[in-house]
Amino acid sequence: MFTTTDFIPKKYTATIESGNFEWSAPSNIALVKYWGKKDNQIPANPSVSFTLNNCKTITKLGFEKKPNQDNFSFDLLFEGKPKEDFKPKIQKFLERVEVYLPFLKEYHFTIDTQNTFPHSSGIASSASGMAALAMNFMSLEKALNPEMSDDYFFQKASFLARLGSGSACRSVKGNVVVWGNQTNIKGSTDLYGVEFPYTIHDNFKNFQDTILLVDKGEKQVSSTVGHDLMHNHPYAERRFAQAHENLDQLITIFENGNLDEFIKVVESEALTLHAMMMTSMPYFILMKPNTLQIINAIWKFRNETQIPVCFTLDAGANVHVLYPENVKEKVLQFIQSELVVFCQNGQYICDEIGNGVIAI
Ligand code: DP6
Repeated sequence: MFTTTDFIPKKYTATIESGNFEWSAPSNIALVKYWGKKDNQIPANPSVSFTLNNCKTITKLGFEKKPNQDNFSFDLLFEGKPKEDFKPKIQKFLERVEVYLPFLKEYHFTIDTQNTFPHSSGIASSASGMAALAMNFMSLEKALNPEMSDDYFFQKASFLARLGSGSACRSVKGNVVVWGNQTNIKGSTDLYGVEFPYTIHDNFKNFQDTILLVDKGEKQVSSTVGHDLMHNHPYAERRFAQAHENLDQLITIFENGNLDEFIKVVESEALTLHAMMMTSMPYFILMKPNTLQIINAIWKFRNETQIPVCFTLDAGANVHVLYPENVKEKVLQFIQSELVVFCQNGQYICDEIGNGVIAI
């Protein structure tokens, strides 16, 4: 396992004047939720997610040595056009990671980024975006230090992504990724995401996630504000303990493939996340009437058909419908006939479990 100091590089052995790299990084959907953090992006509890396959950010990083090292210098393009309002977030990210990437002020960067999902879909792109950016910086670091091991390359990328956005550290490598220290998961750490190290039952192979876009508006609560609400929250300590318990349960469930138990943990986690928001001060309701319509319809369908389909939620109104590949046809039919009416403009995105970043 690496520690923070392992990620502070020694002298680089190579030099490079200019060039570019390009990586795609996927979004991920948490099963046990990260909600609440300490200083330096250390999570208050461990989380686990499925890596997605289709919802991705693709980022190209151009770099060129500049004459001075006074400041960070970068241009930011989103879908080919300059995007000033993304710059402060990147600036903050560069400040946070400078100690781990001491070359950052030596170059002018052009960050050219795009998402495969619609911009105004209400799907957070911070996880995939920060992961893709971190991969590019690691490619540059690897060019400066060609002896770098693969393990170090990917784990440091996840470590850097975490400093950009917590959940981004789960968007680097592997189908099922754990972030946060959990006694019963070997190698797990608060510092970066690791691939779930134990057996995963075939029931979870090619697991499906259909994202129902209920509300595409701007987030009502930014994740920073949201995580902050867990400080002095009356139920925080119990919640953090529960996340550990649920993660332990998932270790067994991933191994034996028990989908009934999987559903209980996953839906309870989603509702608990929202319960935390409803019971914080100030309090928020991020679900919309259609979110509840969808949840009730899923419960009814599951009851009537015994098809193991369930939902999870992020910090918003959209619903992720999760189900095994062998019921795909039936569930898609159900979604089209009964759930699409609750989606804004009838929009939904079909995704499934994926493997992580790809060099382009
Ligand atoms: C509800 O990773 O977006 O999606 O670290 O402040 O960038 P920051 O937060 P972020 O929080 C994600 C919260 C969540 C649950 C999860 O993905 O685990």
